[in-house]
Amino acid sequence: MLDPKFEQFVDAVSKRYLQELQFAEIRRAVQALSQWYVQKRADLTPDKVFTGRGKRAAFAAYYAPLHYLLVRMIVEQLQTPAFKSLVELGCGTGLAGCAWIERSKAAAKITGYDIHPAAIAEAEWTYKTLGIYGRAQQRDMLQISFAGHDAILAAFCINELSDSAREKLLAALLKTQAQILIVEPIAKSTAPWWSIWEAAFLNAGGRSDTWRFRPILPEFLAKMDKAAKLDHREIKGRSLYLKG
Ligand SMILES: C[S@@+](CC[C@H](N)C(=O)[O-])C[C@H]1O[C@@H](n2cnc3c(N)ncnc32)[C@H](O)[C@@H]1O
Repeated sequence: MLDPKFEQFVDAVSKRYLQELQFAEIRRAVQALSQWYVQKRADLTPDKVFTGRGKRAAFAAYYAPLHYLLVRMIVEQLQTPAFKSLVELGCGTGLAGCAWIERSKAAAKITGYDIHPAAIAEAEWTYKTLGIYGRAQQRDMLQISFAGHDAILAAFCINELSDSAREKLLAALLKTQAQILIVEPIAKSTAPWWSIWEAAFLNAGGRSDTWRFRPILPEFLAKMDKAAKLDHREIKGRSLYLKG
């Protein structure tokens, strides 16, 4: 069943952007980002996602809700335990973290970090609109202290780092006692870093999974899917998880 709170959120975010953009403009941006995702993911820098109202709208009203659905289904399948304080790395619009916090209900809080200022404003709006106790801050994920946090999420952002940054981040993550969830798309071409991270997580007692779900899509996502000739009746992804 579709979560009514999430359905209302997608309705609110799409209406917000539709006040200033035509549906067709957002659709074109969805298709442009889809090209980047499929063909040139390695070049998908934050500026390419967040520069321009159309792309921002496509990300906030379409891609981020798809990420929410994937993360929510993954954490349900993994039966992740409740936590008090979640750090979301590369939070973008903050929605993926909100999917995980649903398992911890009211007591938990989120701190979202992103390097792009547009992402921070959008994440603050997401937390407020969903009634989640969250704050977003503009900071490079390599500059973050994990002390005092018992859950760490990195959804669709590790691929954007350089090899050396990824190496430093992995070492820092493995030193924490927090539960850690990494979510990425199923890559068509091999991402060498994934096998390194996968081996490190398995070695630390974690797990690696690939997922395929058939979610009920909120109306705006289904309409956009059809208009953009994309197909998210099935959504796929892969994850690494450490229980901490
Ligand atoms: C594809 S978006 C994913 C956003 C969000 N996690 C989601 O699943 O919807 C990747 C995000 O990572 C952020 N990012 C990239 N490199 C970063 C870094 N070094 N530190 C913090 N954020 C970063 C980008 O600005 C962007 O918002």
